[in-house]
Amino acid sequence: MLDLESLLREATVAIAEASDLKSLDDARVHYLGKKGKLTESLKGLGLLSPEERPAAGQKVNDVKVKIQTLIEERTEHLQKNQIAAALAKDTIDVTLPGRRQSGGSLHPVTKVRERIETLFTQMGFMVLDGPEIEDDYHNFVALNIPELHPARAMQDTFYFADGTLLRTHMSPVQIRTMKATKAPLRMIAMGRVYRRDFDLTHTPMFHQLEGLMIGENVSFADLKGMLTEFLQAFFETSLPVRFRPSYFPFTEPSAEVDMQCQNCKGEGCRICKNTGWLEILGCGMVHPNVLKHVDIDSERYTGWAWGMGLDRLAMLRYGINDLRTLFENDLRFLRQF
Ligand code: PHE
Repeated sequence: MLDLESLLREATVAIAEASDLKSLDDARVHYLGKKGKLTESLKGLGLLSPEERPAAGQKVNDVKVKIQTLIEERTEHLQKNQIAAALAKDTIDVTLPGRRQSGGSLHPVTKVRERIETLFTQMGFMVLDGPEIEDDYHNFVALNIPELHPARAMQDTFYFADGTLLRTHMSPVQIRTMKATKAPLRMIAMGRVYRRDFDLTHTPMFHQLEGLMIGENVSFADLKGMLTEFLQAFFETSLPVRFRPSYFPFTEPSAEVDMQCQNCKGEGCRICKNTGWLEILGCGMVHPNVLKHVDIDSERYTGWAWGMGLDRLAMLRYGINDLRTLFENDLRFLRQF
């Protein structure tokens, strides 16, 4: 029993002196563990007489509870110290600038699309789209390109097994619009078109703008005026524009439009192949056969249409010299816009 008194004293000191959780746990094992000192004195109980045993057992238990309480208190104290120390050591400087999120930017073709949309909605044009998977009728037949017509060779077409195809130009949207809205109307459509072509200046997918205006007394003069106006507004300069006779099955007469090369101002350079001019779009007066297909009276209504490549336009506006860079999705390139 004397032993118990000194054991408690000894344990009290050891617990108070434990400077971290590890040495505190060592002390716990030393006194309360299976092979600990207190467990040992329990074994001594067997040597006592049955009358003495309950009182002695009670005493051992009291000491055990005391030591447990001391350990609990010390544990709590050490844990608090540990947290305080960690907080003091791991302070962060909240005034440091954070890591910034890098923002994306609009693709040059998207920016061109948005500009064109603004310019033409101001002139009263609707902005529409149609399906990328088209049928032969809308892509060719209704545009006055019947089966076996040689003009089909102008556009190398991707066909599906069921006879549908990837639209080769935006002109089928003309047909869909005229069928749906009738005359008079003004519309533009911009979207992806597909042709079997791949080299420095051609990609199998590219973007086109198609425009159409149908009304009474609409003439070639309207076409010339509006397209010239548009090109000058788009490039923000009064650049010279010229019209050359051309051929498209769905327009008659047809023309191709050149604008002055803005790189050399008409002097002649690498970009315009020393001609001073850049071919920029195809256009013409809507062919009466096309109007017949969509039930518009060609005696009463006339119209004009044009089509142009948006990628080409983006290249000219932003000084890009390789068409393919537009579709490679290299962030270093795209971040410049
Ligand atoms: N669809 C023609 C092309 O892709 C362009 C065009 C459209 C020409 C409308 C005239 C009128 O080449």
